[in-house]
Amino acid sequence: MKIGIDQIAFATTPYYLDLVDLAQARDEDPNKYLIGIGQSKQAVVPPTQDIVTLAAQAASQLNLTAANISTLIVATESGIDQSKAAGIYVKQLLGLSDFIRVVEVKEACYSATASLQFARGLVALNPAEQVLVIASDIARYGLKTGGEVTQGAGAVAMVISANPKVLSIEPVSVNYTQDVMDFWRPNYATEAMVDGKYSTNVYIDFFQTTFHRYLEQTGRELADFAALAFHLPFTKMGKKGLESEISERDDELATRLRVNLTAAQLVPREVGNLYTGSLYLGLMSLLHHGDVKPGERIGLFSYGSGAEGEFLTGILESTYQAGLGGIALDQRQRVDLATYETMFKQHLGLKSTDVTFNVDADPSRFVLAGLKHHQRQYQVKE
Ligand code: COA
Repeated sequence: MKIGIDQIAFATTPYYLDLVDLAQARDEDPNKYLIGIGQSKQAVVPPTQDIVTLAAQAASQLNLTAANISTLIVATESGIDQSKAAGIYVKQLLGLSDFIRVVEVKEACYSATASLQFARGLVALNPAEQVLVIASDIARYGLKTGGEVTQGAGAVAMVISANPKVLSIEPVSVNYTQDVMDFWRPNYATEAMVDGKYSTNVYIDFFQTTFHRYLEQTGRELADFAALAFHLPFTKMGKKGLESEISERDDELATRLRVNLTAAQLVPREVGNLYTGSLYLGLMSLLHHGDVKPGERIGLFSYGSGAEGEFLTGILESTYQAGLGGIALDQRQRVDLATYETMFKQHLGLKSTDVTFNVDADPSRFVLAGLKHHQRQYQVKE
């Protein structure tokens, strides 16, 4: 039985910062950001958005009316509560049935892939069930930090089912985990702590390790792939990953893999880091802009700092366009540096006092209206 991604949709915030503006403010050459890091814009998060509203925004684009959703898994490393699952708010905002299982899953940028694999297991047990997996995150490194240019925000929502319309996930995958301190966020911090250079090296090492073990286990070779999609904390990272495998090659296959990596980078370059949703936004970008045909194999490298990697694969289905959501970035509003910095500081974060936000300023359908009696107040705008 085929099991995999039946529908996939993406949402981000209504605002963005042009990274040339950021480069000028931080006294950097814009080409360092545009070429060296590979990012052009980044999502700016108003105080009225968090992982719950972003998740609801993404999932509301899916056709859930005919679906038989048994379970909702929200994958995130930007949790808003140590106890209650963010998905319960999302379930309420989406109006899903009360007869549903809801949990939250965490392992840095890897957890969406873990959720996808758990969902496959549930569907294998009962093929009539569908699982809603939502990867939702806000990547915050802090103002004037080295990681600032690699911030971003957004959510990718996926329905996992039998006989999927978009991508059938194949049975063999390789997982790899080591206790590594490349990126972490203690409970008292609203911004990540990161050893960026070390992290990029661990990423490449984990890609090489999982990919080569996959090739050994399956007997497949690079030519069996139409595209390799990578976790993209910043788009240059995907290039580093791919080139670690094909830097010596200049043949037709290597050219195609490079062209498809560029396609996978197109949308992430405009949004920034989605943390655990980044691989899946890259996949959407690839399916919209790349050279991949039904029946072909796509390799997916998932990486979460801490650290865990998984190399998995999928076969593109002939019906993929019916389940592939659109990407509407042209509706976003550009903000200047001062507005970005103000919004960054307004983030609810660890604040515990009551606050009311101006939701009228945010055009999004799902908004965070504030905090009252230590409870987040969400609204749906009709
Ligand atoms: N034109 C073109 N390229 C330029 C440039 C210019 N004017 N100036 C610098 N560059 C290139 C550098 O050569 C380098 O390329 P390389 O990585 O291919 O060698 C790149 O831009 C970055 O420059 P660097 O000096 O290394 O940047 P940095 O010290 O600010 O660190 C990160 C960059 C990505 C490490 C940092 O932003 C970070 O820590 N980000 C968060 C890391 C992260 O997301 N980790 C999670 C991984 S899963």
